[in-house]
Amino acid sequence: MTKTPCVVLVTGAGGDAQGWGNMDVTKCVEKAIKDNGFDCRIVLAENRQEMEKGLQEGFCDIVWSALYFFTTREDIIGIPPDAVWVADVLDELKIPYIGPSAATMKALIGKFDTHEAMEKAGVRVPKHILCPPAKAQDVDFFPAFVKPNGESRSIGISDKSVAQNMEELKAQIRFIQDELQQSALVEEYLPGREYTVLVLGNGKNREILPGEVTVAEEHFGKYHILRSDLRGVGLTHLIRPDDHMEEAISLAEQASDALQCFDHVRIDMREGSDGKLRIMEVNGIPGLKPVKSWSPQIYALYHDCEDPYTALIGKVVKSAWEKIQ
Ligand SMILES: Nc1ncnc2c1ncn2[C@@H]1O[C@H](COP(=O)(O)OP(=O)(O)O)[C@@H](O)[C@H]1O
Ligand SMILES: [Mg+2]
Repeated sequence: MTKTPCVVLVTGAGGDAQGWGNMDVTKCVEKAIKDNGFDCRIVLAENRQEMEKGLQEGFCDIVWSALYFFTTREDIIGIPPDAVWVADVLDELKIPYIGPSAATMKALIGKFDTHEAMEKAGVRVPKHILCPPAKAQDVDFFPAFVKPNGESRSIGISDKSVAQNMEELKAQIRFIQDELQQSALVEEYLPGREYTVLVLGNGKNREILPGEVTVAEEHFGKYHILRSDLRGVGLTHLIRPDDHMEEAISLAEQASDALQCFDHVRIDMREGSDGKLRIMEVNGIPGLKPVKSWSPQIYALYHDCEDPYTALIGKVVKSAWEKIQ
């Protein structure tokens, strides 16, 4: 009899800011993996040594990491210059993992790098400038949208993120540098509706499922944007879009191919002033809070089954498992 394959879930302090969620979420993922017939165990690691020790303590056929890099930081992603990347270590140890390659993961965590890679491949992204190294004076489009280059969950996003003139732009770039110690990504403001597209599995078994993000009108302030206070509190809901379906699928397909994404990513996009969709970011480790996170919500919109969460996790793990056979 062959042994049941064992999936090791790697997480740590950064699990919520960087990855699918906190320890409670990780335990839900573990249960769903076991319900799909795989073995599963959790390894908590703040650094490379702790991960290696944890991996050696039991079976490990494939790793699924909530962390892009090791950290002791819980509040923000805040990529340090000397980050040790989980996927780099796993490549070195020759241990397969769920999700995109190390190179892709590094490109996804910095939104500017993601845009550059997509633009090169002809995928539609907003105009974008990274400040620094660029200066506010280099921005020649208004309104502009100013956000941290490497965060998640709308950290650093408020109505002040929309800059109508040079003075507002400079103030917001300074805010991102001072409060989040990183460069500001300045984009053309995309005023239209917001979509997020779940990309699951690989090759001919890849599913591309678009969702439109909705928020009750009274929660918006000056702009229809997902401010940080609207995220993670049950105020965003997903519906099956009745518009832009084919465009969203095609854009997500182009982005996944250009960036060589695997197994599970989620791609955020919005309508520009010309009505066409542009990609805001590609999430390399999408949230997996049961019911609340967007991937489980979208999956449930398209799969009328008793336990869509377990089915979603099963699809990710089985896709990755097939990929490495
Ligand atoms: N160029 C833009 N124009 C308008 N709104 C934007 C733009 N970029 C981001 N946003 C808003 O800010 C939110 C967070 O931005 P996003 O790039 O998805 O980062 P994250 O979700 O990682 O915090 C989006 O969901 C969207 O509402
Ligand atoms: Mg986003």
